[in-house]
Amino acid sequence: MANACGVDFGTSNSTVGWVAPQAPANGSRLLALEDGKPTLPSVVFFNADDDEVSYGRAALAGYLAGYDGRLMRSLKSLLGTSLIDGQTEVGGRALPFRLLLAQFIGELKRRGELAAGREFTSAVFGRPVFFIDDSKEADQLAQDTLEGIAHAVGFKHVDFQFEPIAAAFDYESQISSEQLVLIADIGGGTSDFSLVRLAPERIARADRRDDILATGGVHIGGTDFDKYLSLSSVMPLLGYQSLLNNNSAIPSSYYFNLATWHTINLAYTKKTWTQLADVARDAREPAKLARLQRLIDERAGHWLAMKVEEGKIALSAEQQVPLSLERLSPPEHVVLQRAEFEDAIAHLVGAVEQTVLKLLTDAGVGPDAVDTVFFTGGSSGVRMLRERIGALLPQARKVEGDLFGSIGSGLALDAVRKFS
Ligand SMILES: Nc1ncnc2c1ncn2[C@@H]1O[C@H](COP(=O)(O)OP(=O)(O)OP(=O)(O)O)[C@@H](O)[C@H]1O
Ligand SMILES: [Mg+2]
Repeated sequence: MANACGVDFGTSNSTVGWVAPQAPANGSRLLALEDGKPTLPSVVFFNADDDEVSYGRAALAGYLAGYDGRLMRSLKSLLGTSLIDGQTEVGGRALPFRLLLAQFIGELKRRGELAAGREFTSAVFGRPVFFIDDSKEADQLAQDTLEGIAHAVGFKHVDFQFEPIAAAFDYESQISSEQLVLIADIGGGTSDFSLVRLAPERIARADRRDDILATGGVHIGGTDFDKYLSLSSVMPLLGYQSLLNNNSAIPSSYYFNLATWHTINLAYTKKTWTQLADVARDAREPAKLARLQRLIDERAGHWLAMKVEEGKIALSAEQQVPLSLERLSPPEHVVLQRAEFEDAIAHLVGAVEQTVLKLLTDAGVGPDAVDTVFFTGGSSGVRMLRERIGALLPQARKVEGDLFGSIGSGLALDAVRKFS
């Protein structure tokens, strides 16, 4: 079982956890994956100058330093969609997304093994409750794709666990009495929930099905919050919602692609470039279009998305946040307002609330019966979301877990259970 690990391949961040040979059964720990840190940002950068691939923080740094190449983030969002069979091109080389995904998962395995000092042959991978909303087939395809990649990079035995169940196992390793707990894992790509009965004396049980009252989830996460904040506060500077000379609106698809992490590279195709040149000739506000074209020419789409994400994260602590967009031409300074951000994501927060209400109904549990809400995932930092979920269960105690580590730790515990 010491050759088994838990792999949390996240939309934004990934971790690898394990239970070392001499550790107690609840003693999982996360392995250091980059610069001594347990998270590896789920980012791949193909550097076309040196023909080299880098990962994580190093990948972000390489891109920001201006090397010619392609940055890929949010690769998990491609699973279960037709985009997974696509590719991006740079310097005359085709980079298939599926291959990049496999390289990233292989890197997670290698780095985890290096830190643990042994080979991992078995892994429990986390998965959202739904990779894809409303399509069983696409959802299964997403898991099958991930499983195929896990085998291809050398895991002999692969199993899956719902991410919000893994987080429950992590929380359970820290409690001293029985509780009915709502696990809320709000990540980069998905919001996942489970309603579980947790108790120290139940940890050792092989079969926990009776303790899982319900699971639920929706494909809404931090990358969507970035997208809608970008569309409301930044994309208008580049001509979003401005008009053409004939009074029709400029097609919004360019802006949607640029505001969505996993489709940014679609803006860099020749076809888009040609279309935009036509659009720009007809634009009522050509300066804005010129800015958009320049941004695309400079492959600065990810830079802009990172700026928006930074601003979003800062809005969790501040009512307003200055954002300096110095790489736009001309440069621009905007002030993000929390109230505007909340307006922009209100429809998403509403959908997450509905998901929680449905889960309680599915379980046949009244809100007063829930003892604790356990928050994990980076996007549980969004105030509005946390308050609204909390308000659905006013009596429950609110506990904040390790926002970036709970799933990986819990998957490691599950790996012991599944592979020993
Ligand atoms: N303080 C904060 N406030 C709001 N959002 C935050 C904060 N810190 C991080 N985030 C957001 O959290 C997200 C990443 O969270 P996390 O690492 O839990 O996701 P993930 O596990 O990679 O995604 P998923 O589980 O959905 O596949 C990003 O969208 C990031 O911008
Ligand atoms: Mg996650």
